[in-house]
Amino acid sequence: MFRYPKGGEVMLPFQRHRRLRSSEAMRNLVRETHWSVNDLIYPMFVQEGLDGKEEIRSMPGVYHFGLDEFRREVNEVSELGVPAILLFGVPLHKDDLSTSAYHDHGVVQEAVRAAKQENPNLLVMTDVCLCQYNPSGHCGVVQDGKIVNDESLGLIAQTALSHAAAGADVVAPSDMMDGRVAAIRALLDENHLQDVVVLSYAVKYASAFYGPFREAAHSAPAFGDRRTYQMDPANLREALREAKSDIAEGADMLMVKPALSYMDVTKAVKEATDVPVGTYNVSAEYSMVKAASLQGWIDERAIVSEMLTSFKRSGADFILTYHAKDAAKWQRELRS
Ligand code: PBG
Repeated sequence: MFRYPKGGEVMLPFQRHRRLRSSEAMRNLVRETHWSVNDLIYPMFVQEGLDGKEEIRSMPGVYHFGLDEFRREVNEVSELGVPAILLFGVPLHKDDLSTSAYHDHGVVQEAVRAAKQENPNLLVMTDVCLCQYNPSGHCGVVQDGKIVNDESLGLIAQTALSHAAAGADVVAPSDMMDGRVAAIRALLDENHLQDVVVLSYAVKYASAFYGPFREAAHSAPAFGDRRTYQMDPANLREALREAKSDIAEGADMLMVKPALSYMDVTKAVKEATDVPVGTYNVSAEYSMVKAASLQGWIDERAIVSEMLTSFKRSGADFILTYHAKDAAKWQRELRS
């Protein structure tokens, strides 16, 4: 039994946890969680009518792409081994019926075709929503100052169909209307697009962490907020109801969003379901890291790697993140 050098008192037996942390090789051997580039999805903004690319002020390193620059970026993303992109459109034209959202030659539809031409093996996912495409900035149809549910479903399904018809592998509805997954699945199947995957933003909170995105996508609500359709950040059990009903409606995969403040939710959804679950490391989560990093206050690479590890530890099978390209570069450097 161990004795104190001077006193001679007997200490209680204790565990030597530090043995398994004694060297890099030992730590590598016993590590429980890993992330890799295969887990990452890179969100991208394509802007109709833009020549070249423009950096988004509140998201340093993230750009609006015109179609030509977008093609170049698709090749860079592919070359880095990032397996998937998620597309957001910034249209020239907005109207009450969000017609640019489901136009066959809308900006997202054209970008899907371009991405598939550049690299057929890159998984192309699309965000399905109306908020960028109508002047109210809401994710559904507005009637008498209210965001109406059932009247929105047809337009949302039509949007998903047009993305899928252009060649998207995965459509990801982010509007949070009830019944959208069922409406999308039915319309895809009717149109012989039964193999297109539906990734539902099933658990999407009404979050201040979307702030920089709304600047990027020009989709801030013109009145009110999104709290009648996005979830209350205080609720966890409700997340399980959302997850289960989306699976019942035919969702193939689910997403929890945002990521950082909601890892308990990711874990709970993962445990309560048997479909793949992803998490969306959203715009303000990115911007906060970038801002601190640009000030020289944090080690960006270490912080991002720790966050990605934590998302995986909380149960995420895949991670949507604006850090995807950087993370892929860092992982490549580690390997070489
Ligand atoms: C569209 C949509 C939003 C985000 C993804 N899809 C904004 C919102 O709901 O207000 C947020 C993405 C991010 O912040 O990175 N409905």
